[in-house]
Amino acid sequence: MAKNDATQALVSAGSLQEIIHPVKYHLDEFQTYFRNSVRSNVSLLDLIVRYIARQKGKRVRPALVFLAAELCGGITERSYIGATMVELLHTATLVHDDVVDDAEERRGVASINAVWKNKAAVLVGDFFLSRGLLISVENGEYDFLRVTSTAVKRMSEGELLQIQKSRQKNIDEQTYFQIIADKTASLLSTCCEVGAMSASPDIKSHEAMRLYGEHCGLAFQIRDDILDYISRTTILGKPVGNDLREKKITLPLIYACSVVEASEAKKIIRLVKSGKITNEGIEYVHDFVKRNGGIEYSIAVAQREAEKAIAQLAYFPESQAKQSLTQFAYYVIHRKK
Ligand code: IPE
Ligand code: IPE
Ligand code: MG
Ligand code: MG
Repeated sequence: MAKNDATQALVSAGSLQEIIHPVKYHLDEFQTYFRNSVRSNVSLLDLIVRYIARQKGKRVRPALVFLAAELCGGITERSYIGATMVELLHTATLVHDDVVDDAEERRGVASINAVWKNKAAVLVGDFFLSRGLLISVENGEYDFLRVTSTAVKRMSEGELLQIQKSRQKNIDEQTYFQIIADKTASLLSTCCEVGAMSASPDIKSHEAMRLYGEHCGLAFQIRDDILDYISRTTILGKPVGNDLREKKITLPLIYACSVVEASEAKKIIRLVKSGKITNEGIEYVHDFVKRNGGIEYSIAVAQREAEKAIAQLAYFPESQAKQSLTQFAYYVIHRKK
């Protein structure tokens, strides 16, 4: 059942390029806003900023701001401020995340911490974070500031809960959901809410978009956690298998452990938590997860979240932006990187 559903969705899932087509012009323009927002006279900082600006990433978050704005009445100057804010905050969290996860690669190149060490990476992350929040102050966008600051707070809480759990023995599905909701869904949700706010005063549309983004965000992170099991570093541009190396137990493993004898689950968890897991150990756990349906189960859960996201779009009349956002929910669960 889950497999058939997934295959069907795959057929209707457009590529990211097709999805963002309606807002392509604005995404190109956004580039200048983004670049101008992080200029600095400190040459070390400027050097690192230029390094970051070269590897763009998928630009999923600004695309969501623009698509949400289109859906709710049309892109405005305020949409650009929102798009710049969320991409700055996203960049900040990625730079910090690679310090936290001790990751050597990001977007196919060496991570900031790998090149300039943790000290510089933490401070560069802080710089992006503060620029992201300051842009709203500079433009008098205090509602944006409230929404995005809430996301920043949730992201820190999610990351810290994850660290807490990586030090404890066990993690259940409910805690997993709390972690991914806070660390990832919070920002995607903010993108959609800010996009809606930039285009319309209708509170109901803000709320529908906030929920759409939250569900898409959950699906996005579940897919990310699946990719850590099934993809390759060369495709992802970041190290595969890193979750286990960082003692992170994500949905595929949580599920696989729930369907085997308690003693076998315990053995696997002990291996993951034992400290330095070897490449053979990682392969062994990957195999265990695949054998016990952890991937299929996670695909089905991600699919369920994507459908919940799409249900929120019922509030809006048909439009090209609505089609793109529908496709985006499918893209999220089928993406390869
Ligand atoms: C990575 O986000 C961090 C997660 C929330 C999983 P993206 O996959 O959107 O990263 P970039 O911006 O495209 O590199
Ligand atoms: C997602 O965390 C990044 C943030 C939400 C800050 P992960 O550690 O799971 O993501 P990747 O795999 O490094 O992109
Ligand atoms: Mg992390
Ligand atoms: Mg990481």
